[in-house]
Amino acid sequence: MIKVENLHKHFGGFHAVDGASLEIEKGTITGLIGPNGAGKTTLFNVVAGVLQPTSGRVTMEGEDITGLPPHELFHKGLLRTFQIAHEFASMTCRENLMMVPPGQLGEKLWDTWFGRKRIADEERALRARADEVLEFLTIEHLADHKAGQVSGGQKKLLELGRTMMVDARIVFLDEVGAGVNRTLLNTIGDAIIRLNKERGYTFVVIEHDMDFIDRLCDPVICMAEGKVLAEGTLNEIKANEHVIEAYLGTGLKNKDKVEA
Ligand SMILES: Nc1ncnc2c1ncn2[C@@H]1O[C@H](COP(=O)(O)OP(=O)(O)OP(=O)(O)O)[C@@H](O)[C@H]1O
Ligand SMILES: [Mg+2]
Repeated sequence: MIKVENLHKHFGGFHAVDGASLEIEKGTITGLIGPNGAGKTTLFNVVAGVLQPTSGRVTMEGEDITGLPPHELFHKGLLRTFQIAHEFASMTCRENLMMVPPGQLGEKLWDTWFGRKRIADEERALRARADEVLEFLTIEHLADHKAGQVSGGQKKLLELGRTMMVDARIVFLDEVGAGVNRTLLNTIGDAIIRLNKERGYTFVVIEHDMDFIDRLCDPVICMAEGKVLAEGTLNEIKANEHVIEAYLGTGLKNKDKVEA
């Protein structure tokens, strides 16, 4: 579904992504792991159009999407989750979800004047969809809570929820589990699995928590120093010599996470 070919992203003389090539197969939940500073987030940002690559190519189902801006990728169903922006923190969780779909009516004065009924219908539909998403994520009780006041983990769920308000096809998740307790992490994992199975979303998941990767992801791709080191099942990755070496090089913090 996504093909990344010989991708480079340099910051000055530093090669954050240094000739990475990989493929994401449609229908998978692909894990992207690697020690801190491996270039995972940078690669995500290039694929999602947030950063321009120095060189290389990204295609989606054969179509060249290299360097397309996020809103164009959004229309193709390629989404990257973002933290709830500061300015939306005072809106409720439901309202945050209702903000998402593009091309909403009611934006133009003309529409507000001539299309009141249509707008009311669309708002009702949007609201219903938002409530459905909240229920799916088991946070329907937070519908009227301000997004800025829910817990860190609940915010992560809400970020995932925003991808469900549109017809996403492939979703990039960067450390959705960071700072989230086990129970909520399981809820997030359940939601990802259901979206994959029931709605056919393809996922690419960056995560340091190997239990989470183990539960969700096949295949797993490991990066280090801007390059792809290995791809396979998590067990194959854990047994890979280059992978072990890359994790050992970064010290104990990551070493104990891949107990190969
Ligand atoms: N805007 C930038 N300017 C300069 N260097 C950058 C920039 N963004 C990232 N880097 C560097 O590129 C390297 C890769 O960073 P990146 O955030 O992609 O790593 P990562 O694999 O996501 O790491 P982590 O697991 O810690 O999130 C790091 O050494 C980082 O310091
Ligand atoms: Mg990162």
